[in-house]
Amino acid sequence: MNNYHNKKIYVAGHTGMVGSAVMRALQKSGYKNLIAVSSGQLDLRRQSDVEDFFEKQKPDVVIVAAAKVGGILANNTYRAEFIYDNLMIEANLIHASYLHKVKKLIFLGSSCIYPKLAPQPLKEEYLLSGYLEYTNEPYAIAKIAGIKLCENYFRQYECNFISAMPTNLYGPNDNFDLQTSHVLPALIRKFHEAKTNNNPSVTIWGTGKPLREFLFVDDLAEAILFMMEKVEASDLYNLGITHLNIGSGKDISISDLAALISDIIGYNGKIEYDTTKPDGTPRKLMDVSRINSLGWKYKTELEEGIKKTYDWFLNNYIQKV
Ligand SMILES: NC(=O)c1ccc[n+]([C@@H]2O[C@H](COP(=O)([O-])OP(=O)(O)OC[C@H]3O[C@@H](n4cnc5c(N)ncnc54)[C@H](OP(=O)(O)O)[C@@H]3O)[C@@H](O)[C@H]2O)c1
Repeated sequence: MNNYHNKKIYVAGHTGMVGSAVMRALQKSGYKNLIAVSSGQLDLRRQSDVEDFFEKQKPDVVIVAAAKVGGILANNTYRAEFIYDNLMIEANLIHASYLHKVKKLIFLGSSCIYPKLAPQPLKEEYLLSGYLEYTNEPYAIAKIAGIKLCENYFRQYECNFISAMPTNLYGPNDNFDLQTSHVLPALIRKFHEAKTNNNPSVTIWGTGKPLREFLFVDDLAEAILFMMEKVEASDLYNLGITHLNIGSGKDISISDLAALISDIIGYNGKIEYDTTKPDGTPRKLMDVSRINSLGWKYKTELEEGIKKTYDWFLNNYIQKV
């Protein structure tokens, strides 16, 4: 038992990959007083609707896993929506949490908040030390604003609001739509379809050289519970840190990732690279030493996580399309 066991916990974005993993982890750990509402019933971009919801529900804990999320193509195409939706969702949730005296709020950002050419691995203190990657700049600016909202509601009002910056995530409930997905689920879908249709080759965006880190989403959910139970706002802000990185601390090239996924799926054709398409940031690896030293570490290796994700894709996603 800990201080949060009987508290009312609102998971915003519970239908998404992260929110659904957080719900599973909370239920598995015996948390029973959980609330969630679909985007159809509550559009989090609408301030007065969000405040009415908080007035009625009075949550003690808020996990902000609602966001407009996507890969390079979606980020670069829907630039206005990525900045507007994310700013509105987080500002409404954080301000309503302040007004309604929420005891703990965890805001989720992502590793794209760091400068494009920041030294690697990325340390928490590199935030705002250089230019962002252009393709996802609107999304990153919105996420940085979310971190700064949490920090400054602590500084002015002592709100116990903290931020978690996960690396690239994958797992059950991922987005496998090739127009909007991230690289790992997109590769699962491409290799699966190539195998099913006996295609001689699969073409991958970019050179295959960028290095990326991946974390299985159920591991992230454990880290969120860890932060809810064990990390206080004063622990971070009084040290001059605004957020905690969450990742495995290991990276892999896109070409090695493609080879691994192709093996797991059992695809025997060729892998080709379309070098006219952008690569994005050359390398993105989180320095996870801070959360590791506080007592949390990832559990699921990439191969095991991809196998679980592919099983989920076969049993849930592919049945529906
Ligand atoms: N995916 C990753 O690799 C990754 C990596 C690092 C960090 N993160 C962070 O984790 C968080 C969640 O990401 P995810 O991958 O779980 O995204 P996701 O699967 O796309 O889920 C997003 C969730 O937000 C909800 N939502 C979106 N717009 C909304 C609105 N206007 N009103 C109410 N709800 C709304 C969605 O509801 P509907 O389904 O009803 O639209 C859904 O439940 C984000 O903050 C993201 O930055 C993700």
